[in-house]
Amino acid sequence: METDPQRSALIGRGEAPIHEPGLDPLLRQGIDAGTLKVTTQLESVLTDHKVLVLAVGTPSLPDGRTDLRALDAVAAGLAEHAEAGTVVVIKSTVPPGTGRRMERQLGGDARNLRVVSCPEFLREGSAIADIAHSDRFVVGGSDEAAVSRVVRLLNPFNVPVVRSGNTEAELIKYGANAFLAMKISFINEIANLCDHVDANIDDVAAGMGMDARIGAASLRAGLGFGGSCFPKDVVALEHAARSEGFTFWMLRAAMEVNEQQRIRFVQKIRVALGSSLEGRRIAMLGLAFKPGTDDMRQAPSLVIAERLVELGATVVAHDPAAMSAAKLLLPQVTFAADPYSAMEGADLVALVTEWPEYLDIDWQRAASMVRRRVVVDGRNCLNQANLAAQGFNYHGIGRPPETEQWDRRETAQLAGSAADPT
Ligand code: UGA
Repeated sequence: METDPQRSALIGRGEAPIHEPGLDPLLRQGIDAGTLKVTTQLESVLTDHKVLVLAVGTPSLPDGRTDLRALDAVAAGLAEHAEAGTVVVIKSTVPPGTGRRMERQLGGDARNLRVVSCPEFLREGSAIADIAHSDRFVVGGSDEAAVSRVVRLLNPFNVPVVRSGNTEAELIKYGANAFLAMKISFINEIANLCDHVDANIDDVAAGMGMDARIGAASLRAGLGFGGSCFPKDVVALEHAARSEGFTFWMLRAAMEVNEQQRIRFVQKIRVALGSSLEGRRIAMLGLAFKPGTDDMRQAPSLVIAERLVELGATVVAHDPAAMSAAKLLLPQVTFAADPYSAMEGADLVALVTEWPEYLDIDWQRAASMVRRRVVVDGRNCLNQANLAAQGFNYHGIGRPPETEQWDRRETAQLAGSAADPT
């Protein structure tokens, strides 16, 4: 059930309304086989189905609380229409206590309606591979039979199962996202320190990540975390703690560092240009919050582009997937059809999202197009030596000018064995 008629029609034709690699063929496969049907009518899915999976949006409200209106609307429909024995699975990320509360609202034991909390751990851009290769399948609920039924139905790839109560499952999800967000803020602070003491974050992160207790995943310094999950979930968990009367200091620090990371990047651009931004032309490569998606929610590019324009710069941006979405959010930015057009006449190239396309840029060609050869790499993904060979002045996040000459590939390979696949 998809409430938006346009999105519903797209899904019905086997076209995903979002950019997610590999999703369209899967939708078409389901539609052709008759195993996937789409409707805009809530009532029609509430009856005749023994398992209902709720995957509605749970965004943040301005005060940090989670907006549960979409979930509550479904619960109201369920209370009225759902048949005895129905298992309701909450896939949406919801504050601790939501599953238990919903089971009580639905009548629980009296109506034999069970709520099973089954949080999702996939990442945008690699969602399909993540489902089959998840580290664990978390399933929480008070009714053993309902929990087992959900495991049989939703864990076809037999990934290791963690069984718990509803609230524990909800907290596993928040705890995991908040921890990863803190890890990213932590490595960003180490990178910021590297900038001050002329150390290279690539070496530091590789050496830290090889400690199995730390792990190499989510240890890439850059512009901080964006998207629809980490920022929202950190805020929601901090709010949940606050409403229980205590301050979760580490989450506050993670959020603060994340905001500062964008501001520091603009500061780096100012320093790299060595003068005011007034009248400068900046090529911005990448807009989406990460590669592989057209999602602009909480994308660092939004704050960075707005700030650069405020300071008098002209921003010409490119993104392989997110330009249609970005055009609505960044009216003051000019959009280019490809990265080279974006770089034409630029005073500085700012890399904001590490799309694979940008790793293959022909910097010799780019050198002949830009006005000044200056690159600020917000994702530490470009090869400093290649850029230097074409006369570019390179600035990364915690990457000093290329002075050491040793070959980093060996450490990268060792560290990469445990690294984040994305
Ligand atoms: C995240 C979690 O990784 C998933 O496990 C979870 O299911 C999902 O949220 C969710 O709650 O639905 P996602 O937001 O798609 O997934 O993306 P990530 O790949 O985790 O990246 C999040 C942000 O952190 C991105 O902006 C990315 O650029 C940034 N990041 C990630 C870093 O800055 N450094 C890293 O080392 C890793």
